[in-house]
Amino acid sequence: SGPDTVSPTGQPTGADQARMAQSGSYLTNAQGTRLHDTDHSLKAGPRGPVLLQDHHLREKVMHFDHERIPERVVHARGAGAHGVFRSYGTAANVTKAAFLAEDVETPVFVRFSTVLGSRGSSDTVRDTRGFATKFYTSEGVFDLVGNNIPVFFIQDAIKFPDVIHAGKPHPDREIPQAQSAHDTFWDFVTLHTEATHHTLWNMSDRGIPRSFRTMEGFGVHTFRLVNAEGGTTLVKFHWKPKLGVHSLVWEEAQIINGVDPDFHRRDLADAIEAGAYPQWEFGIQTFPDTPDQTFEGIDLLDPTNIVPEELAPVRPIGLLTLDRNPSNFFAETEQVAFHVGHLVPGIDITDDPLLAGRLFSYLDTQITRLGGPNFPQLPINRPHAPVNDMLRDGMHQTAVHRGVAPYRPNSLDGGCPFTPGAGLDGAYVETPVRIPEATKVREAPESFDDHFSQPRRFWLSMSPPEREHIIGAYTFELGKCYEQAIRERALHVLANIDPELCEGVAAGLGLPAPAPTVPLADVEPSPALSQIGH
Ligand code: HEM
Repeated sequence: SGPDTVSPTGQPTGADQARMAQSGSYLTNAQGTRLHDTDHSLKAGPRGPVLLQDHHLREKVMHFDHERIPERVVHARGAGAHGVFRSYGTAANVTKAAFLAEDVETPVFVRFSTVLGSRGSSDTVRDTRGFATKFYTSEGVFDLVGNNIPVFFIQDAIKFPDVIHAGKPHPDREIPQAQSAHDTFWDFVTLHTEATHHTLWNMSDRGIPRSFRTMEGFGVHTFRLVNAEGGTTLVKFHWKPKLGVHSLVWEEAQIINGVDPDFHRRDLADAIEAGAYPQWEFGIQTFPDTPDQTFEGIDLLDPTNIVPEELAPVRPIGLLTLDRNPSNFFAETEQVAFHVGHLVPGIDITDDPLLAGRLFSYLDTQITRLGGPNFPQLPINRPHAPVNDMLRDGMHQTAVHRGVAPYRPNSLDGGCPFTPGAGLDGAYVETPVRIPEATKVREAPESFDDHFSQPRRFWLSMSPPEREHIIGAYTFELGKCYEQAIRERALHVLANIDPELCEGVAAGLGLPAPAPTVPLADVEPSPALSQIGH
């Protein structure tokens, strides 16, 4: 349902018209009527009252009045770039996705973001970063809406409004703008201890990337790949930056925050303009699609878990190169709409309860943010594959649909009759996954109860300077809490990760270090988690 680009009179309309803006030899109003003057209102005499009949004045000010759209409810601040993805073909045995066959080039748009700050906040704050990629494949759009941290705060999307309410500025004073250094954040993550792992990553150097170009990216959830024979494989997606993984230290980040709050977006745009195109290798960790969806004792449906790369190496499957800056921030970076439900044949979802909620949330929020249901027609969101849908009308419809019978089968438009199941090779086709017989419950599986062994593995994998940074980060952030009880509760959480960590933070806060309340997990470090030597 892409918009027509030529009007019935043969004049360019829609996207073509927008492209012509600011390039002609004279100015027009929105109706194409030539303007003589855009600097003076129509008045009854040079010192007289302005006349209501001045349509140009009203149109110009009215349009300006409506220039702002709501910012994203999360990930409001971001920067984007265009690029190309070239696949190696090394995933072809596990997925039939056409864009992952050997040597296929696919245009992409990537948007990097912080999570909590507003659109005008600073870049080098301590926060998770979004890493969302739109692949315009020959089979339709595939979005990988990931982060630079491979785990999430919560295990069930029903808590997402809660964790974001806790992380956003306090409702009374509207502070802090973009940092996790406040009572409600620490209150939430210490009461909901499944957040411990993500919080530890935030307090590590990963929480302050040096550049978007030096961040890893992760799909976080476990996805399901389907190959040409219908065979399924569970998978976790990874982006590995060619420049390596690098962070800012806290003092650097503080200075940059003041000197250049646009540091990350400037760095990305400058690098691309200079021809130093950032690159990431795309990779997958694969796991057998067993009925328990568990690998080496790790529940793959729990998004607070990683699978250490030493247990399941990342197989490189393609190369992403960002080589073109957006020409208009609003049209591209602001209006792009990612969705975890934008899937192509060969890539499917799992029953991760966090992923299920996301499938609902993105489309829903975009109806508000982008003014109705027709935002897939915006140039940045348009698929590069033919669209033949039966979606009609609605706010901001720009397509001029032909035909009289938007339903199938029909006997009026001569369209191909749609026979369900016949030669069907599309997305959203059920893969042969067994759904166990079950009773409706509001509860999590027992395997979601272990909140400390993975954080302990992360801590044990850190080098001495990385540990020092983590202790410094907890000490600073918790030191900003007004409530002593929250600081004390946080120390109880840290005691369950590691005594060295807990004692270091306790000393910094001038509080006693409590003893663990659960036995310390017996886990091996995962050297791949450390940035040293990455
Ligand atoms: C936006 C990642 C969990 C709701 C985003 C964006 C990213 C992201 C990267 C920014 C997209 C852009 O640049 O436009 C993630 C990851 C998650 C997660 C990796 C967990 C693994 C959730 C959950 C929900 C949610 C559980 C809700 C139940 C949203 C909403 C937006 C958003 C409403 C704004 C979308 C828009 O306005 O276009 N998320 N998210 N996210 N996320 Fe998530």
